[in-house]
Amino acid sequence: MTENTHPWPGTDTPPATVRDEMVLTYYSRTGTTATVAANLAERFEVPTVQRIRPDRERRYWNWLARSFVPGSTVPIEGVETDLRDVNALVLGTPKWTLSCPPVTGFVERARLDGVPTGLFLTYGGFDERRYLHRLVERVADAGADVVATLLVKRDRVGSPAYHEALDAFAAAVLDERR
Ligand SMILES: Cc1cc2nc3c(=O)[nH]c(=O)nc-3n(C[C@H](O)[C@H](O)[C@H](O)COP(=O)(O)O)c2cc1C
Repeated sequence: MTENTHPWPGTDTPPATVRDEMVLTYYSRTGTTATVAANLAERFEVPTVQRIRPDRERRYWNWLARSFVPGSTVPIEGVETDLRDVNALVLGTPKWTLSCPPVTGFVERARLDGVPTGLFLTYGGFDERRYLHRLVERVADAGADVVATLLVKRDRVGSPAYHEALDAFAAAVLDERR
């Protein structure tokens, strides 16, 4: 999947309203979460895929410092955040120390009243469960009905177990969509 070429070719601007559909929203800095998002998108029928972009790119050390601040956020672009009318949402994020600011920025702005939501997290190797637990709380506070979660260790992407886990996650979200 190429960045933001689907489903709005040639533009970074999503439609004004998103409704009656599956929406897959993710942020990825180095591509792992984007790969998982693309593999998940294949399991849903014509989802709307939107990639969160920070207002501007920052250096690794800048992101790392920000990631140590609980709840840290940055302005974001390229995504619709009023998702009250969608059938289901899948939200994907890398695990960053205590906060991934572009994703925290999305969750802060998102309107998700009762939307069945699946959360997936990619990570390098530590502290992922506690992070996922906090993310579930935060997304539920934004109004979402969290129906499925998935942890993906980055060096497992592409393995048979990975594909089985994606199948189960996608099935759980599809079962609960409105
Ligand atoms: C600023 C920063 C902080 C990170 N903190 C953690 C961490 O606390 N635990 C962990 O397992 N991985 C951590 N990682 C690794 C990422 O979660 C992992 O590489 C992820 O799959 C990257 O996703 P992406 O390629 O979609 O950006 C961190 C990466 C960055 C850039």
